[in-house]
Amino acid sequence: MSFSILGTGSAIPETVVTNDDLAEFLDTSDEWISQRTGIRERRVSAGETASQLATAAASRALKNASVKPGEIDLIICSTIGGEYITPTTACMVQQRIGARCPAFDVNGACAGFITALDIAKSYFDAGRTDKILVVSSEQMTRYIDWSDRSSCVLFGDAAGAVLLGRGENLLSIVTHTAGNDTLLTIGGVRGSSPYLSAAAPDSTLFMDGGEVYKYAVNAMARDVAEAAAAAAIEVSDISYVLSHQANLRIIQATQKKLGIGAERFCVNIDKRGNTSSAAIPLLLDECSSQGKFTRGDLLAMCAFGGGLSDGACIIRWN
Ligand code: ACO
Repeated sequence: MSFSILGTGSAIPETVVTNDDLAEFLDTSDEWISQRTGIRERRVSAGETASQLATAAASRALKNASVKPGEIDLIICSTIGGEYITPTTACMVQQRIGARCPAFDVNGACAGFITALDIAKSYFDAGRTDKILVVSSEQMTRYIDWSDRSSCVLFGDAAGAVLLGRGENLLSIVTHTAGNDTLLTIGGVRGSSPYLSAAAPDSTLFMDGGEVYKYAVNAMARDVAEAAAAAAIEVSDISYVLSHQANLRIIQATQKKLGIGAERFCVNIDKRGNTSSAAIPLLLDECSSQGKFTRGDLLAMCAFGGGLSDGACIIRWN
């Protein structure tokens, strides 16, 4: 027993920020950002919170699946952080959509959607659930240093959701962690304890872009190959790859390593930027709404991110 995807949904903030908008207050240009990253614009939260985006994406996935909130057995939300540490974003989604089931957050950084699917699989395998809502919601623009041109141009905000039901369409899933607190970090709450003497890490995103780039390409190519082997298919059998949207050059290098044509890689980074764990379910919902997939297509999803963590899965589209 694994699961099938019964419905998808997504939500993005209203505010569009173009590369030219960023060049108004940063020493950068549309030419540099689009050539080095493939990003032309991103959505940035102004009024919208992570839980509001998550709720909108979740409601759309439920509607798309024709499932009522009362039918959900579990809500798993992947997020680096919502507006509160507690209540979690999953708890707020549960309340707002009117579900009665347990709900919790997981933080797998940009690979969080794959982590959440892996946890969901275990619940289905154990026979504990019939329907699980997985929602990924991220407001990365709260965590970046808006004066650091090498990182702030990369990120956007969004939420994406899938409604999962018992089924056989998840063919395989693999996850990995290579713990590391020097290449990609966001510090936690500093607090005001008068007893605290240890220095706290910076609360904005720090990234060694070059090293993360190398790790990303190797991890995503390896994970897709591993997931294909575990699903007993060839990499060449994959119909579409939905990879984490961090940099178009990373996506292209992964394509090359895997030997899969560019036309089989789904891409929306030009308009959405890097939306962390929301990237894959957002891309899935946008492509599925455009009618890109047909029943039986083999979709490979792969992601990497802070942790460092990465993973991939193969899903037969139904
Ligand atoms: N505009 C103009 N110039 C810039 C900018 C900018 N926005 N950012 C950096 N530069 C400059 C640098 O200062 C440097 O100048 P110098 O040569 O005078 O020192 C030059 O451009 C080249 O900088 P590099 O860092 O070598 O540029 P690179 O081509 O490697 O691109 C980038 C940097 C885009 C960050 C790339 O390394 C990358 O994408 N890395 C992976 C990022 C990633 O995947 N992050 C995921 C985060 S994890 C998660 O998803 C949460």
